Amino acid sequence: MTTSNVSDGLREFCASLDELSAAAQQAFAAVADAAALEEARVDFTGAKAGKLKAAQQGLGKVDKADKPAAGKKFNEAKAAVEAALEAARVRIHTVDISGVSSTLTGALASFDPTQPGRPFRLGHLHPVTQTIADMKDIMGRLGFTAVEGPEIEDEWHNFEALNIPAIHPARDPLDNFYLATATALAPGSSNRVPGPAAGAAPEKPLLLRSQTSTVQIRVMESTPPPVRIISLGRVYRPDTADATHYPMFHQIEGLLVDRGVTMADLKSVLRLFCQSYFGKDEVHIRFRPSFFPFTEPSVEVDMNWQGGWMEMGGAGMVDPNVLRAVGYDPEEVTGFAFGLGVERVCMRQHGITDIRALYENDVRFLSQF
Ligand code: DAH
Repeated sequence: MTTSNVSDGLREFCASLDELSAAAQQAFAAVADAAALEEARVDFTGAKAGKLKAAQQGLGKVDKADKPAAGKKFNEAKAAVEAALEAARVRIHTVDISGVSSTLTGALASFDPTQPGRPFRLGHLHPVTQTIADMKDIMGRLGFTAVEGPEIEDEWHNFEALNIPAIHPARDPLDNFYLATATALAPGSSNRVPGPAAGAAPEKPLLLRSQTSTVQIRVMESTPPPVRIISLGRVYRPDTADATHYPMFHQIEGLLVDRGVTMADLKSVLRLFCQSYFGKDEVHIRFRPSFFPFTEPSVEVDMNWQGGWMEMGGAGMVDPNVLRAVGYDPEEVTGFAFGLGVERVCMRQHGITDIRALYENDVRFLSQF
């Protein structure tokens, strides 16, 4: 038997508050969206007709002596109901922000400053640009200085000085991007094949360079021997794009002119170059006899890496006619030259099988390299 002297009125009041509090916990725990939450909020904490408000009115029926205890009990119940409401609010709005209809309150309520931030996605150099940088680096260590030449060239540097005479098929306007120069566009002239308009003063035809060999001429014209340079850059040919052709691509040109330079030097430099580029697996270089107007003898260069032979480009000993064209004495100096495809090397390295993929600028593709 208890000896409690709690009045029946107070006991009833407390029991009804416990019930109300339990009902509120249940109701707020069950709401699944913002609309249901609002409905439950009005039901329990509404200022006019809410259940809490109604319970508060019951306070008046409690004996005067029990009022302090009843008031305390009411405040506890009110706090419990409000806590349940707040918990439901956080839960609902946390769900909401992962969907479309986040509200500011929801976003703030669910913001967690201790979560790690989203990492920045760093860009990187295009794979061809990376290959060019690597090539410059390797050839730099072999003592070759990188130089640049213009992409718009005249016929002297692109053909004439390279021992490619006017009748040579390589000069065919259909095989080169000749530019429509001012005179070529003059009234009465064709803008397809550049040349002086009738009666106009002859103007030097210009074209997008078809090979980086142009830079050999520019360097030798302005520098006495010895020279030891490379030049990397874009070249242009009107080829239809397919898996192995593109109207613009890159070449690395190399030129070494000095006393007593031989073909053995050429092969050693190319082997060291490829070996350094492709790393630890052994690389082999193979020469096949060929012809280029600016080298004699001329070779095609093949490289074997991981079991497969691949064509890299052309090379040879600088033709005496070229040395003479730039004012060098072929009795005094000899030289070797080579011109290799940059994309081929880059594609072989990464296992890329279609050159067009390099120039579609699809970041999903490019970000792999
Ligand atoms: N210029 C040549 C081409 O575009 C490649 C080449 C061959 C460059 C032999 C050279 C060379 O320097 O010696 O096909």
